[in-house]
Amino acid sequence: MRTFNWAILGLGHIAHKFAESLALLPNARLHAVASRSAAKAEEFAAKFKVPHAVGSYDELLTIPGIDAVYIATPHSEHHAHTLLCLQGGLPVLCEKAFALNAHQSQDMINTAKERGVFLMEAFWTRFFPAINKALELVADGTIGEVKHLAADFGFVASYQPEARLFNPELAGGSLLDIGVYPLFISKLFLGEPQEIRAVAVPAPTGVDQNCAMVLSYASGATASLFSTLAANTDNQCILYGSKGQLHLNGRFHAANSLALRLTDQEPQLISCEKQGYGYHYEAEHVQQCLEQGLTESPLLPLQFSQELMQLMDTVRQQIGLRYPGE
Ligand SMILES: NC(=O)c1ccc[n+]([C@@H]2O[C@H](COP(=O)([O-])OP(=O)(O)OC[C@H]3O[C@@H](n4cnc5c(N)ncnc54)[C@H](OP(=O)(O)O)[C@@H]3O)[C@@H](O)[C@H]2O)c1
Repeated sequence: MRTFNWAILGLGHIAHKFAESLALLPNARLHAVASRSAAKAEEFAAKFKVPHAVGSYDELLTIPGIDAVYIATPHSEHHAHTLLCLQGGLPVLCEKAFALNAHQSQDMINTAKERGVFLMEAFWTRFFPAINKALELVADGTIGEVKHLAADFGFVASYQPEARLFNPELAGGSLLDIGVYPLFISKLFLGEPQEIRAVAVPAPTGVDQNCAMVLSYASGATASLFSTLAANTDNQCILYGSKGQLHLNGRFHAANSLALRLTDQEPQLISCEKQGYGYHYEAEHVQQCLEQGLTESPLLPLQFSQELMQLMDTVRQQIGLRYPGE
């Protein structure tokens, strides 16, 4: 079995979880880490026993043997960091939100295609066993025709105007950070909406603190979605069908089981394997794609990520949120 050498660019909160998750894959090795600070890179490398640590992102390109780079910087930086790696010929798994706006994500996609280098959005939710099972049940018509999808994602974030979640310079706000999950799941199950309407309440920095969205689809379905940085919510996703309901249990973006509630029947719990945090599922998929010589994922195609970014642009237009430089 071929071993894949991973690199991580940007060593914040999620980089640590990703590094821990990689250890669950027998044929993955964390080969290099890059930070803006050499001391931080060395500390991270010591913790995870990483052979190469560099104190600038550019230096990552000088390390031989990297098979894929996981980009874990703020949304505002994804475009520049993805281009840096792609132009150096390195396959990229880039965190969500894929970019600041659809113009940037299109540029990333064009660059990957021109260079023939793999690129995928790190939408880990897509690769959980529970999501695959739910897609199968819905496609089989188990809950009949889906009429409505409701999904939420909210938590109380401590208000720090300079930090990633609230800072407009870092593309802060609930929509790009967590509202992207309800939008993602609605798109996964219902496709592209015909119509979308959004309202938001701003944080003092001007980015959205709460964002609520309603959508309608050609199939006759509707969706109601919301995100907030000011309240803990259940992080639920429920699909309401003509024959029953399907609940993605746990926090839906990392679901570990499904509840099937068919009309006039006892509810059924379907448990779905989930190991650790679950970041290794997306990493494993990237490895499989690379093994097959693919330059994009068949399960999470670049067009999907581009359309998701366009939906977020539409929402931001409606709620009047523009980021600096846009
Ligand atoms: N999939 C998930 O479950 C999940 C969960 C949380 C976050 N995320 C995503 O992961 C990305 C990073 O989130 P995080 O929570 O890890 O953020 P974080 O803790 O703030 O870390 C981001 C890292 O990016 C680097 N960076 C580069 N330019 C920066 C700048 N101008 N300002 C601040 N940091 C900069 C820094 O690393 P160095 O100092 O080492 O260079 C920093 O530690 C975001 O896109 C977020 O949406 C995903």
